[in-house]
Amino acid sequence: MILAQLSDPHICAPGERLFGRADTTAALEEAIRCLGHSPTPPDLVVITGDLTERGRPEEYAELRRILAALAAPFVVLPGNHDRRAPLRAAFADLGVLPATDLFAYTVESFPVRLICLDSLIEGMGRGRLGPEQLAWLDHRLTEAPARPTVVALHHPPFPTGISHVDAVGLEDADAFAAVIARHRQVERVIAGHVHRAMQRRWAGTIASTAPSSTHAVTLDLRPGAAAAYIYEPPALQLLHWEDGIGLVGHILPIGRFDGPYPYGK
Ligand SMILES: [Fe+2]
Repeated sequence: MILAQLSDPHICAPGERLFGRADTTAALEEAIRCLGHSPTPPDLVVITGDLTERGRPEEYAELRRILAALAAPFVVLPGNHDRRAPLRAAFADLGVLPATDLFAYTVESFPVRLICLDSLIEGMGRGRLGPEQLAWLDHRLTEAPARPTVVALHHPPFPTGISHVDAVGLEDADAFAAVIARHRQVERVIAGHVHRAMQRRWAGTIASTAPSSTHAVTLDLRPGAAAAYIYEPPALQLLHWEDGIGLVGHILPIGRFDGPYPYGK
């Protein structure tokens, strides 16, 4: 099974450019094109939040239009730039989101179980899961202790060392860690939000983040460094599961590259 994680596409209204610069529609279209050209296309795509820039209906409509080109089934979860009501309305007919207040749900139809969480506090940059959602997560993990599981959310549950990112982190990361640490079948926790690839040991598993399909957060680890973004090559995260191998993570740059060539030629 291949699970592809796209993150933070920040789709704007048609014709609008993010920060007056980036064509985020073209960026996501290029990511979808890359997945379509892969010799091992994904079985499932999860898009981990900041689906749109301002959570407006016209932005979600644009996202739906772009995602129609995706061959694989997909699921989405909200980030701090999203709004639940227009997100729910835009995807209502697809059955990819539950009709609950929070978008916390499981995807059961693949060898790796995916659990999507909702860390959005509407109108705020930082995130929170809350005790009810964490109790729900604990129950879901308790009911399937032998199934390899990936848990996805927008806000990474660890401090990153990038000051302005950590100022808008996950408020209840410690309570989240206490739940995850009780369940050894959690192969990985995946997040977005930081617009960079990161990975670390966390709560007895691996936590990693996917870059954005558009701009990156500048890698500036000086305490108090000002928020800045940069157009590094975008990328997505691929998680490959096979019995006998386990779960292996890959970072796949998004773009058009020379090759592939057979070795020796
Ligand atoms: Fe973002």
